[in-house]
Amino acid sequence: MATVRVLAPAQVLKGLTTGVLPLGRALENDLSTDPTVEAAVWGQAAEAHAAFWDNWAEWRHARPGTPGGSFHDIVRMFKLEDQLIRFMSLEPNDVVIDLGCGAAWMAQFIPSTTIAGYVGVDSHPATVTTARKELDRLGLAGTVVKHDLLVGLPGSAVEAIAKAGRARVLARWAFYLPMQSIVRIVKQAFEAGACDLTVDQLTAGKFSPPSLMVHFMPFLAKGLVRRELSGIQVIRALKALTRMIPYGLELKKLFPLWSSDQIAEALNGLGCKVEVLAQPLWGQTTFLRVTHNPVP
Ligand SMILES: C[S@@+](CC[C@H](N)C(=O)[O-])C[C@H]1O[C@@H](n2cnc3c(N)ncnc32)[C@H](O)[C@@H]1O
Repeated sequence: MATVRVLAPAQVLKGLTTGVLPLGRALENDLSTDPTVEAAVWGQAAEAHAAFWDNWAEWRHARPGTPGGSFHDIVRMFKLEDQLIRFMSLEPNDVVIDLGCGAAWMAQFIPSTTIAGYVGVDSHPATVTTARKELDRLGLAGTVVKHDLLVGLPGSAVEAIAKAGRARVLARWAFYLPMQSIVRIVKQAFEAGACDLTVDQLTAGKFSPPSLMVHFMPFLAKGLVRRELSGIQVIRALKALTRMIPYGLELKKLFPLWSSDQIAEALNGLGCKVEVLAQPLWGQTTFLRVTHNPVP
């Protein structure tokens, strides 16, 4: 029988801030099948999640045109968002469910005429407000729901998937969740009738400052020499790098950054097919497409 160890919120937070208690592992080991115990453990984890994300608020408030030096400055240099949206091959009756949507950053890369609707999900109240404003600014039909994905999909997302002509689920740098939660979300999405799930996942083993510097510095130098990058862009990128490195290290220490193989293994058990579409940023992040073929 599984041992259940319920931790006090203070213990969880202390463990997280000292790095002694990686969140994913704590939940992996401690979850029981008793929903009341699960709820207690998840409640504490949600609190710890919120504390982490409060320290890295720029993810949640980054909007186009905000001053440089944020993570998005680096990511934009590689046009990763455009690639990800291209891989989704969106069609006019599609509804996009954006899990861990932050400030709905991805929404600006979706031409509003391309899809029928957008549902963003994020656990942070101020982020949800920013994301709603972003949808208004873009004129994109949709809603943003405040919800903790640790406990699965919100009911409104399940309904939106069931009603959509074609529901496409997106999780971009947001599956920092215990595998049970990921499996639950994917199961709920496909049961509701989702067409597919596109994931952009940072890769645990590869996120290391030396490997990032080894690739990134020559990239910047080459860009300057070839005049593909301006001096201002390079300064913004270097500033962004000074934010990205501690973020990546802290994230890696505290959260499970599942590899594509680990995700594939867990989701194969649900009868899902997981394809690697690309591994940009020198393999530090992976685009995955998850589909589900119901057994006849
Ligand atoms: C790295 S940011 C990515 C934001 C956005 N997808 C983007 O590409 O800019 C991760 C987001 O996931 C959200 N998040 C983290 N854990 C969550 C949870 N358990 N439930 C809902 N949202 C969560 C955070 O609040 C944050 O906005």
